[in-house]
Amino acid sequence: MRAGASRRIDLAVAATVLIAIAVCVAACDGGRAENVVQTSAMPYQQYGCSSCHAADRKLVGPAFRDIAARYRGRADAEVLLVAKVRNGGAGVWGQMAMPPHPTLPDGALHEMIRTILAQPVS
Ligand code: HEC
Repeated sequence: MRAGASRRIDLAVAATVLIAIAVCVAACDGGRAENVVQTSAMPYQQYGCSSCHAADRKLVGPAFRDIAARYRGRADAEVLLVAKVRNGGAGVWGQMAMPPHPTLPDGALHEMIRTILAQPVS
């Protein structure tokens, strides 16, 4: 094979690989972004959750993804966690306590907990 022809084939292969990567990144990212809690977005920022929690890594409190994994399949998870955020407390994830949130609107709190529990757990 001549050198020129083989270089053209290399370029074609490289282009195909790049397109495949681009399609995958767009598709995979698009799919994830819908499910993953955006902790920088409302209401997690508005109610101060973002200063202690992130979607995928531990900060002061556990990652929302780890919370979803821990309570997966538990029918009482929403009720339990709404009460926990409302009243605060420690001892489930470590000695660090979550402060109580007595003024958080009920609807917003339930919605946040449902979104946390719907996180993909990997
Ligand atoms: C000052 C830091 C802080 C803030 C602000 C905070 N959290 Fe937490 N959160 C924690 C800590 C620490 C824990 C672990 C408590 C434990 O081990 O029992 C926790 C635990 C949790 C849990 C799991 C509870 C359990 O018993 O498994 C949920 C759900 C949660 N937080 C949601 C929220 C939401 C929603 C907000 C905002 C309204 C919020 N947190 C604000 C620190 C915080």
